[in-house]
Amino acid sequence: MPLPSRLPSLLGIRHPIIQGGMSWASSSAALPLAVSRAGALGVIAAGPMRPEDLVAAIRAVKAGTDAPFAVNIPLYNKRAAEYLDIAEAEQVPILIASQGGPRPHLPRFKARGVVWLHVAASEEHARKAEAAGVDGVIVVGAEAGGHPPPSQVSTLVLVRAVARAVSVPVVAAGGIADGAGILAAMALGADGAQLGTRFLLTEEATVHPAYKQAVLAAGIADTALVGRDGLPVRQLRNALAEAVNGAERAGRPKEEVLALFERHSLKDAALHGDVAWGKVEAGQSAGLIHDLPPAAEVVARLVAEMEAARARLCGG
Ligand SMILES: Cc1cc2nc3c(=O)[nH]c(=O)nc-3n(C[C@H](O)[C@H](O)[C@H](O)COP(=O)(O)O)c2cc1C
Repeated sequence: MPLPSRLPSLLGIRHPIIQGGMSWASSSAALPLAVSRAGALGVIAAGPMRPEDLVAAIRAVKAGTDAPFAVNIPLYNKRAAEYLDIAEAEQVPILIASQGGPRPHLPRFKARGVVWLHVAASEEHARKAEAAGVDGVIVVGAEAGGHPPPSQVSTLVLVRAVARAVSVPVVAAGGIADGAGILAAMALGADGAQLGTRFLLTEEATVHPAYKQAVLAAGIADTALVGRDGLPVRQLRNALAEAVNGAERAGRPKEEVLALFERHSLKDAALHGDVAWGKVEAGQSAGLIHDLPPAAEVVARLVAEMEAARARLCGG
């Protein structure tokens, strides 16, 4: 019997599982296509993409599968308006927006039947997004790789708070790497889960091999929140994390710390393999992951693990 979730009917997918949009790692067709083909929701991360590359990736996913997929658009991005126009022109069925308000953009997409999921960092954001008319919210807790919520509230608490606060479907993210984690999120009231770090460690994720090996080797305590005065990221503890957090502890001026933080990037790690000084973004769940399988195998495994977790709990 399928688990109770509104995501399959809302999104047209088989399993209540979303591959988190990840700059560089899913900024091409490879990972989203593999995930969508496997019955979960694949997500192209537009963030670092040139517009023509985004168009090409959307077309490649469409050519490879009839299954739904999404594009993730950070609304603060300088190219956000262009990405939104591309999504509309290329008839992308699902949008996942982060880092900004949905209200100005919703009418034209709703008119075309596009499903809009919104990344919310707090109960207040989730309520506002619901009032604006989004179809669901994605709640990302402090364990997450990439940009966790400024409040640093954990997934366990944040998902529960948002599930109590809104009535649209809620997707839990942050710290979830297997079927037991997804089932736990559903027990909190979520309709399913979004997984980033788990899908980063797949064959299809488009980051440098050194990046994957560094995340693979990490334990659950080997990430840190870095750059508290800018747009903080959860990344592996490395030379950059030590330098930035060390400068903060030493009471260096904010501008100096920020300049150091901004001198280095996710691109340095993802494209060039600089795992010492690049932003090797990854979540705490890196320590729960020990292999690098094809993404379709991850999806199949997650579904089996959810079933096993339910059987364990319900004696079924
Ligand atoms: C390398 C990396 C890049 C990410 N880039 C983005 C992004 O471009 N846009 C976004 O909304 N979230 C981004 N995220 C967050 C993921 O979509 C997802 O919410 C998060 O990874 C979930 O937590 P987990 O890593 O614990 O599974 C990124 C995460 C990682 C690990």
